[in-house]
Amino acid sequence: MRNIDWNQAAPGVWKTTIGSPGGWTPLTCLNRRPRTEAMKELPEAALPLSGETIDLRELRAGGSLLSLPLAESEELYGMGLQFMHMNQRGRTRYLRVNSDPKQDTGETHAPVPFLVSGRGYGILVDSARAVTFYCGSALRQHKDAAAEARDRNTDRGWKATPVSDRLEIRLPQEGADVYVFAGPGMQDVVRRYNLFCGGGTLPPRWGLGFWHRVPTLFRDAEVEQEAMEFRARGIPCDVIGLEPGWHSASYPVTYEWDGGRYPDPAGFVSRMRDAGFQVNLWEHPYVSPESALYGSMRELSGSYSVWGGLAPDYTLEAARKLYADQHEREHVSLGVSGYKLDECDGSELTRNAWMFPAHAEFPSGHDGEQMRQLYGLLLQDVTDRLYRGKNRRTYGLVRASNAGASNLPYVLYSDLYDHRQFVRALCNASFAGLLWCPEVRRADSVEDWIRRMQTVCFSPLAMLNAWGDGVKPWSYPEAEAIIRHYIRLRMRLLPYLYTVFAEYEEKGIPPFQAMPLVLADEMQEQGKREETGGSSFGTGKSESGFNTAEGAYGKQAGREWDDQFCIGRDLLVAPLFAGETGRDILLPGGVWYEAETGARHAGGQVVHVDCPLERLPLFVREGAIIPMMPALDHVPEGQTEIPVEMVHFGTEPGEGLLYDDDGETFDFEKGGGSWLKVRVAIAQGGGFTGTAEKGGPACRYNITGWRFGQTRLPQE
Ligand code: GAL
Repeated sequence: MRNIDWNQAAPGVWKTTIGSPGGWTPLTCLNRRPRTEAMKELPEAALPLSGETIDLRELRAGGSLLSLPLAESEELYGMGLQFMHMNQRGRTRYLRVNSDPKQDTGETHAPVPFLVSGRGYGILVDSARAVTFYCGSALRQHKDAAAEARDRNTDRGWKATPVSDRLEIRLPQEGADVYVFAGPGMQDVVRRYNLFCGGGTLPPRWGLGFWHRVPTLFRDAEVEQEAMEFRARGIPCDVIGLEPGWHSASYPVTYEWDGGRYPDPAGFVSRMRDAGFQVNLWEHPYVSPESALYGSMRELSGSYSVWGGLAPDYTLEAARKLYADQHEREHVSLGVSGYKLDECDGSELTRNAWMFPAHAEFPSGHDGEQMRQLYGLLLQDVTDRLYRGKNRRTYGLVRASNAGASNLPYVLYSDLYDHRQFVRALCNASFAGLLWCPEVRRADSVEDWIRRMQTVCFSPLAMLNAWGDGVKPWSYPEAEAIIRHYIRLRMRLLPYLYTVFAEYEEKGIPPFQAMPLVLADEMQEQGKREETGGSSFGTGKSESGFNTAEGAYGKQAGREWDDQFCIGRDLLVAPLFAGETGRDILLPGGVWYEAETGARHAGGQVVHVDCPLERLPLFVREGAIIPMMPALDHVPEGQTEIPVEMVHFGTEPGEGLLYDDDGETFDFEKGGGSWLKVRVAIAQGGGFTGTAEKGGPACRYNITGWRFGQTRLPQE
């Protein structure tokens, strides 16, 4: 056992370096500035893991093992974009990038080695190697071990996966930087992590509108026609995504427009922009021999080809520059709004093992394993910096990510297509500084179609991906009105969504939150109110109160509640899945209103709600003030004023925030953002009054009216 020196890296964050890691890591590759000022606003905290509890030993097989005790009911969350479970206690998570996360090994598109404990601390291993977290799943031999042996012949309680009382983290051979994040609550841990990584991302306002990706091999006129059909049908749409076919060659790609399908790219993008559509381009990292980049990129690429294309070494400045200059010249300067960065998540042990092997060699000295862990991050970083350089925000899609990504304007997606797993991934992303898009492609039935479309409209990126199936929101005529309603509702809620993202950017608060985060926060607030204060760390009790016998929701022990989530503080979404006509919903404390029926429910318990196909269970918190705008066809560019109505819920006074800025640039970082404090109070003589206290410049919202004491969202 060795002593560990922890050095404070930021308020509530401590770092130690074990071994001699060297090379690029997720955090060094992104090199974001920790938001220390915002971190100071969080509760002061001491190093949560004392020298005595955390154990470090070298392994004879090489590398080292960090371990620490786990309390009996301690939950372990995070570790990236996990699809199969939320609480990872009792599981081994092998955190390697893999486009096929179904095996439940921990491998996934974004295997972030950051764990959040229900007892209010977090651990990050910053490494470009795959790290394994044994989340109470490895049983050490010790003197009482024999007593734990059970006879499978006779004992029905025998379990294949043992549950142990230690967390063990196997560090890579060369070592790694390890960080510990303090609470006291889980929400504080996650906020510290997001702020340490540079804060959350704030998408351009249009990024929160509706997205549609057109079929592969579409040509310019077909794209324009399909886009205009959205307008004709009154279905808002802000972004049209092009799929394979816009390049002159695909798999590998050229990054150059196909002259036959897009004879005038500048004219095409400009006509689309005039009609209020941003254009997003699909691509992947492997450079075709037909690309003008090929010659100069050759020396800067790895030793293995992918589909006959080059795999550039994007840790090299020269490779980054070649790529960025070409993208700037041929797409961004024409007005292209961003990218979908595909196929950067391969693994060699899956059915579709397209990517370079782990032993591939790159000119920078990194090997294939490291490059695969970093590839998605590197591509996000290069394109993010390209747009930043032009003082223009982008928002796009990516299929691989890793630690430190909260500040990157990208949303993850997958070819996996299980609706429940999609919702679970959305929940799990909230522990790891990630955003997730439960995109819709096709459906098994009209019912499945509607349920999936309802979910995606309440996600970080509302997108229909018709690349292979050619579906459109109106593909099922009997469902069109319902789909239109939800896409329009998303547009109406945009001022709320944008504010929630601004809180992510500035305070690190995840915009979409899994229930354990919501409930841990609630318990902490309650604790503050009762002035009992303090962390329960070390008491053996669960800090989150989730899934435990001691917790406020103890009677629901055993259920993960990984099928519902909150957006900001005031909206709760409980998707339904095909085959269901109703469901149980765990409501946090207080009073909640079913947003579309007005039904009132006491929170702090599980309620059952029947929900016909045309409705998604959406709840609003008592006292919430939801800013709503009209369901415009698209987000207006420039400084056009946006009318906003403030909708207050319930019988209690309340307060909230409304954030605004130009919606397009980074000027908000230099004080260009405006926070309105909105309040509803009881008026003298009864009734309510509403006030909006202006703070800062550049407010495009014009508050046109207030609705007080509502129990449902107003109809259009
Ligand atoms: C897949 C991707 C799909 C689509 C397709 C195009 O890898 O997940 O969304 O873009 O490639 O070939």
